Order: sequence, then structure tokens, then C-alpha cells
Amino acid sequence: MDWGMKNRLSRIIKPKDGRTVMLAVDHGYFMGPTSGLEQLNCMVNPLLPYTDTLMLTRGALRDYINPTIDVPIVLRVSGGTSIIGPRLLHEGTVVSIEDAIRLNASGVAYSILVGAEFERDTILGMTQYIDEAERYGIPVLAVTAVGKDMKRDARYMSLASRIAAELGAHIVKTYYVPEFEKVVESCPVPVVIAGGKKQPEEEALQMAYDAIQAGAIGVDMGRNIFQSTNPVNMIKAVNAIVHKNATPKEAYQVFKAKKK
Ligand code: 5RP
Repeated sequence: MDWGMKNRLSRIIKPKDGRTVMLAVDHGYFMGPTSGLEQLNCMVNPLLPYTDTLMLTRGALRDYINPTIDVPIVLRVSGGTSIIGPRLLHEGTVVSIEDAIRLNASGVAYSILVGAEFERDTILGMTQYIDEAERYGIPVLAVTAVGKDMKRDARYMSLASRIAAELGAHIVKTYYVPEFEKVVESCPVPVVIAGGKKQPEEEALQMAYDAIQAGAIGVDMGRNIFQSTNPVNMIKAVNAIVHKNATPKEAYQVFKAKKK
């Protein structure tokens, strides 16, 4: 692995403990003005002090984020379908590698849909992007999105994660499922979990804790943070689980803490 690739990976995954709190706010690329992100900058700015890496789209980065921030960016580079269209997540490349470099991305994110009718298109799209990104030392985070008909279990997540890693992804993002250690054990690159739909805060914290205990190196969480009743305290609580090995109970106390 070359110096640039290692350096970018160490911006995304903190070398002090090998973990990361990624804040995912890329939902607009297929969901439009997602609840909580209507004024994306107003939501994101107070969360940045507790964010190791910000994952978002090209447009959101340019339109809402101050270029002086000191938080590395993982840029969403796949897309092309919407939540109201007929083929959700049948994605292709939507940002060139040149623009990712121009935007000083530390990494890029590409979704694949293993097991779906169009898995080949999404997988070949990702592998082409990996070839281009590797030319410039940019890591690719594979988002193993889950199709409607796919079973969300350790068998499927292991299969999708391992395929992504074998095809060259540098980090894999997947969903937490029971027996998650099987997913992590069979995936040779670091694994982070998405948060999924908004759950009660206690449950989301328990899920983050269970994922870390099972070997995930962090979270790439969105709605369970920015749709929380207290997004700042929620990201602080998630950060405590990821970086301070807080238990779900301790983390929930962080979430409940009153402003001093
Ligand atoms: C969509 C994504 C989102 O970033 C991902 O779903 C994370 O957000 P959330 O925690 O809200 O699920 O990659 O494909």
C-alpha cells in the first residue's frame, strides 16, 4: 500500500485506536431533503467536534460545508436512482475521480447490491472506481446496501462484505445483524456499520456497542444521530462507545446529560 493511501486511511480511521465515528449525511442523493437534513449545515456543524469523518455528496459538500473544516471527507460517488424510482440502488458512478480529488476527498463511497438483479452493474461500477481511485491512492468504502428481497442475516452480510473486500474495497460498510462477529471474521478489511432507520436512542447505542464488541472498527451512522431528539448528545454517546469503550448504559448517560 502506498504512502498516500495509508495517509488517507489514517485520516478516516484514527490511528490512536484504529476506530472511527463517521457521520453519514449523504441521504439526499436518493431520498431528497431527508428529515433532519433540510438545512444540512445547521445540523452538521454542531456535530463536527465529535465526528472523525464526514460522509456526504459532492453537492452537499460544496453547498453546505465550510471548506476550512478539519474533518476528512468520504465522498459518495455512486448514485443515479431515487427512493421513488423503479430501481432503487441500481447505482452507477456519479462523480469522477478528478472531482473527488479536487474536493480533497480522503476516501470515496460506492454502493453495491449483491444478490439483486443488477448486482453485476453495481459491482463492476465499484471495481472500475477502485481501479481509478487506487491510481491516486484514494481508499474506497464499499456500501453493501441490502435489496428488498435479501435476508438481513450474518450469512448475507458476510457474503456481501467478503465479495466487496475481495474485489478491492478498502473499508466495508454493512448493517449490524446477530452473530456479527462472523461478518467481521470473514472480512479481511475494516468493517463499519450503518445505523439504518431511526430507533430509540438506547437501542441504537446498544447496536453500536454490540457491533464494536463483535469487531467492527466503528460506525458510519446517519439517521440515528441526526434524527435523534438530541443529535449532539447522541453523537457524543456514540463517540464514547467507539473511542472510550463505554457500555450502552454509560453511553446513554452521555446522551441524557444536561447542557452545562
Ligand atoms: C445509503 C448510505 C447511508 O449513508 C447509510 O444508510 C447510513 O445512514 P443511516 O445510518 O441513516 O442508515 O450509505 O446507502
